[in-house]
Amino acid sequence: LGLKQISMIDAPKYVNEKVKIGVWLTNKRSSGKIAFLQLRDGTAFFQGVVVKNNVSPETFELAKEVKQETSMWVTGIVHEDSRSHFGYEIEIDSIEVVGESHDYPITPKEHGIDFLMDHRHLWLRSSRPNAIMRIRNEVIRASYEFFNKEGFIKLDAPILTGSAPEGTTELFHTTYFDRDAYLSQSGQLYEEAGAEAFGKVFSFGPTFRAEKSKTRRHLMEFWQIEPEMAFMHQEESLDIQERYVAYLVQSVIDNCKIELKTLDRDIDTLKKYTVLPYPRISYDEAIDLLKKNDFDLEWGVDFGSPEETFLADHFDKPVFVLNYPKSIKPFYMKPHPTRDDVVICADLLAPEGYGEIIGGSERAVDYDYLYDQVVKTGLDLKEYGWYLDLRKYGSVPHAGFGMGLERALTWITGEDHVREAIPFPRLLNRIYP
Ligand code: 4AD
Ligand code: MG
Repeated sequence: LGLKQISMIDAPKYVNEKVKIGVWLTNKRSSGKIAFLQLRDGTAFFQGVVVKNNVSPETFELAKEVKQETSMWVTGIVHEDSRSHFGYEIEIDSIEVVGESHDYPITPKEHGIDFLMDHRHLWLRSSRPNAIMRIRNEVIRASYEFFNKEGFIKLDAPILTGSAPEGTTELFHTTYFDRDAYLSQSGQLYEEAGAEAFGKVFSFGPTFRAEKSKTRRHLMEFWQIEPEMAFMHQEESLDIQERYVAYLVQSVIDNCKIELKTLDRDIDTLKKYTVLPYPRISYDEAIDLLKKNDFDLEWGVDFGSPEETFLADHFDKPVFVLNYPKSIKPFYMKPHPTRDDVVICADLLAPEGYGEIIGGSERAVDYDYLYDQVVKTGLDLKEYGWYLDLRKYGSVPHAGFGMGLERALTWITGEDHVREAIPFPRLLNRIYP
């Protein structure tokens, strides 16, 4: 036929032209004279119009008979369509079925979340997951762009490890030939080696936590972006963190308009999050503020979801909480210069109930201090020899942080559960599909 095969996302370039598109049927309605096919080609959701008088009788019959999720080649003319989110439709003149579909389980009716999660492999085809995954892709793209512009290089951290940076209770155990190994909880320790080799590095990869938490913020497998910077203190790290988060939000606003509309995410709300700086309060101040607002807690406790929600909503912006008690933070954080009960760290809490999206700190640089910390924490010195080496040969002030991609994405998209932010979530009670 010699027709140009296009992706529908490129429709604006082909208005009034005849094109060929590979599509699936999501829904349809028809009368005696016209059939409206709701179509998707992966890049967009749009309408195909089949007018009885303009097509062969076979084509019109097919349009009326075709079942949900049948795959087809369609040809036709691209038109603007101001009534749809997407803004373009196709006036179809021919249809060729590629793969039949019968009794597709996800109908246009409402389904329960367990049913949808059991059918995640099919549910991903729907418009909401599609919008979220496209925003996820934009956040990943913008992350690479941001860190590359800032002079970082991506240095991949291993996934099979012998060490446990974030505490030993949440490890997924496996075997590595004749020894024990664990799935990585964080690439940080390796990025610290990277910072001394390359100056500014970041990793982006899956991390694993056997957290027996069934909350809307916890995945067992999640993706973390972990930058690490040599010759840098915590203040400079906070500065990078807030510029990074604002950059992500701005990139999504600029490049995901249709997706945000599909999700009904309010752009004015997101715009507030691009205005810097983000407020900073100390853990001590946070405790006082919480107590004044009738929270029943004592200095030394870690914050749960109600506390984090209150703090970020109080400022109506992401807020940094600085310098938590040493007793509730990992062994590698830099001790405070004048207090021995807190460490130099910060969590970034997102508003609207999303809680911690970033955890970071300045790192301990002193060999003897860190050696003691490894011993006190009950970690195996043999496994941490390489890490301690980093303090033996030209140790420098350095800082870094980790952003959970799905936490950040859940917040940016305004979804209510982190499971929506990853294609195939691993949850406490789910490893299928
Ligand atoms: O605060 P965390 O535990 O910090 C670290 O792992 C550091 N080593 C990071 C670093 O400094 N390089 O985890 C970092 C972030 C959290 O702020 C949160 O966004 C996300 O990872 N996160 C989770 N996301 C989903 N499910 C879970 N179970 C998560 N645990 C942490
Ligand atoms: Mg944390």
